[in-house]
Amino acid sequence: MTVVVLLGAPGAGKGTQAELLAERLGMPHVATGDLFRAAVRDGSPIGLEARRFMERGQLVPDDITIRMLLDRLDQQDATNGAILDGFPRNGAQATALDDALRERGDRVDLAVNIEVPVDELIRRMSGRWVCTDAGHVYNESTNPPRVPGVCDIDGSPLIQREDDRADTIRARLDLPLASLREVIDHYARAGVLRAVNGLQPIEAVADDVLAVVAGEPKRTDA
Ligand code: AP5
Ligand code: MG
Repeated sequence: MTVVVLLGAPGAGKGTQAELLAERLGMPHVATGDLFRAAVRDGSPIGLEARRFMERGQLVPDDITIRMLLDRLDQQDATNGAILDGFPRNGAQATALDDALRERGDRVDLAVNIEVPVDELIRRMSGRWVCTDAGHVYNESTNPPRVPGVCDIDGSPLIQREDDRADTIRARLDLPLASLREVIDHYARAGVLRAVNGLQPIEAVADDVLAVVAGEPKRTDA
C-alpha cells in the first residue's frame, strides 16, 4: 500500500494536484473536504454536523473526521493505497492515521507540502468554481473551464463553495493553519516530509510533485 499525503493551506492546490497525481498513479483521491461536502448535499447526519463547522471555517471534530476517513480507506479501491487531501489536519489526526496504518503493517510513505503565500491563497479561493458531481476544481482566472459554468470532465454545473465567501476564507486561514503546522512537524519528525513551490503554474507544480514521488526509493516490505 502506498499512502501519499498532500499538505497545504486552504487554496494551496491540494485538490488540483491530488486529482492529477491520482490519475497518474492509478490510486484514488481521498479528500475529507469532498466527503463532507457530499454528506452535506445528501443531508446525512455527518453532513448536518459537519456543516456547522465548515460554514465557520473551523475544523470538524476529530472523532467524526477520523472515522469517516478510515471507513473510506477500507473501501476496495484503496487496497493498494491512496492520495490523501485535507487529512490529516492536526497532530491527533496524524497519529490516528499512523495507528490505523500500523495495524495493517503500513505507514505514510510521503507527505508533500505545497507552499503558497497567503495573498495568493485568498486570490485563488475567491475565483474558485467546483463541479457539482465530483468536485473537480477550476479557477476563473488561472484555470477556467472550456465552457463557462460547465465541468470539462463530467459536464455537471459549476458552483462556488459555501466556504469561499470572504469572511469564511479569513477564518479558514487563521486557526486551521496552526493545526497544519502540527502536521508538518509530525511528518518532518517521521522523515517523510517534502516541500514543493506551489506558486507556479498548475502543470509545473504537478511535475514537481511527481518528481518528489518518483524520487522516493521503492519499498520492498509492501
Ligand atoms: P477542504 O475542502 O479540505 O478545504 P481546504 O483545506 O480549505 O482546501 P481547499 O479545498 O480550499 O484548497 P485546495 O488546497 O484543495 O486548493 P484547490 O486545488 O481547490 O476543507 C473544507 C472544510 O472541511 C474545512 O474548512 C473543515 O471545516 C472541513 N474539513 C475537511 N477536512 C477536515 C479534517 N481533516 N479535519 C477537520 N475538518 C475538516 O485550488 C484552489 C484554487 O486555486 C482553485 O480555483 C484552483 O483552480 C486554483 N489553483 C490551484 N493550483 C493553482 C496554481 N498552481 N496556480 C494558479 N491557480 C491554482
Ligand atoms: Mg480542496
